[in-house]
Amino acid sequence: MTSNSTKVTLLDLACQHQPLETEIMDAITRVVRSGKFIMGPEVQTFEEAIARYCGVPYAIGVSSGTDALLAALMALNLKPGEGVITSTFSFFATAGVIARLGARPIFVDIDPQTFNLAPEAIRHTWDTLRPEERSQVRAIMPVHLFGQCAEMAPMLDFAVQHGLAVIEDAAQSLGAEYPWAGESGGRNAGVMGQMGCFSFFPSKNLGGFGDGGMVTTSDAALAERLRVLRVHGAKPRYYHHAIGGNFRLDTLQAAVLLVKLPHLDRWHQERRENAARYNALFAATSLEEFITLPVSIYEDRRLRFPHIYNQYVIRAQQRDALIEYLTIRGIGTAVYYPVPLHQQACFTYLGYQKGSLPESERAAQEVVALPIYPGLTPAQQKYVVDSIEQFYRGA
Ligand SMILES: Cc1ncc(COP(=O)(O)O)c(C=O)c1O
Repeated sequence: MTSNSTKVTLLDLACQHQPLETEIMDAITRVVRSGKFIMGPEVQTFEEAIARYCGVPYAIGVSSGTDALLAALMALNLKPGEGVITSTFSFFATAGVIARLGARPIFVDIDPQTFNLAPEAIRHTWDTLRPEERSQVRAIMPVHLFGQCAEMAPMLDFAVQHGLAVIEDAAQSLGAEYPWAGESGGRNAGVMGQMGCFSFFPSKNLGGFGDGGMVTTSDAALAERLRVLRVHGAKPRYYHHAIGGNFRLDTLQAAVLLVKLPHLDRWHQERRENAARYNALFAATSLEEFITLPVSIYEDRRLRFPHIYNQYVIRAQQRDALIEYLTIRGIGTAVYYPVPLHQQACFTYLGYQKGSLPESERAAQEVVALPIYPGLTPAQQKYVVDSIEQFYRGA
């Protein structure tokens, strides 16, 4: 039914890497020849480049986005029994790191338009907590999902009001901007709270050749603590005043990411153009009774990258049947995420009931991510949209 010309994978990294192959191989060869696989000079160079890119004084390279979140919570000295408010509609790591430290994830529902933590839902959840539970809450962890920042201003106000830290899970949003009062260019994801956490998992807009992550902060003391925590809490080596982990970013990953970083804005731009093309193609189909398109809510605020479309996620009626239909037609899709975190089996002990966070539960039934990567062709996009139209209209 499909031919190679009409096959559309969810992500094609080969077309991104092919033009950079010589440069990347040279960078890898340099590391191989240097033998400095652990904390080689590329790690610091990459940290400085990310700090500049985000507009923040400190960036600390770590082993993954998950470890970025874990190290950030450890740097806060989050203790067993304490609480962290976070989104229930995210990748597992967001909540997993909280629970791994013996702390309690306090799940909050999402804004149905953006899939991001809803500030009014934070207030609502806060009001349901008993005074002794409130006093245990240490932080809010918003997730900038799919490449668009959560609504940070009210959240930061709330955090200040209640003495909470804010740790941004910016794993999917390196380079996304948030409109900031008094600043024409806005602020970058990951630099608005005390710490920002990034992932360089291969499918991110800036992806490595394996796992990698970064924590950003404006706080010199936190930066120093993170640097110590990523080497088992040792300073100097073999002298441990804190218990950390092996959270280092590999030199090889830093070397590859340094080659890719200068191209990131162009890739963001291509993803944005692809999103605009999907929007136009879908507008011409009149499928609005069946599907809902993603919304970039900061678009008219003079930002360069109000949404970087790490994922282009639609809501679709008969979602699972649609996915099956698209699969047969050679179109790759993914569901981020089929089960909200409060309904994961491992969090049963937290006692959330079905229906307790309804927007997230509904989103889990309806969302599907379409191919959006840089390099996707207009013909491929048209094939995706035509296929979706045929599914609903039976044309
Ligand atoms: C929202 C979110 N948080 C955390 C992570 C964890 O990052 P990593 O896979 O690099 O550990 C990811 C990425 O997979 C993510 O999408």
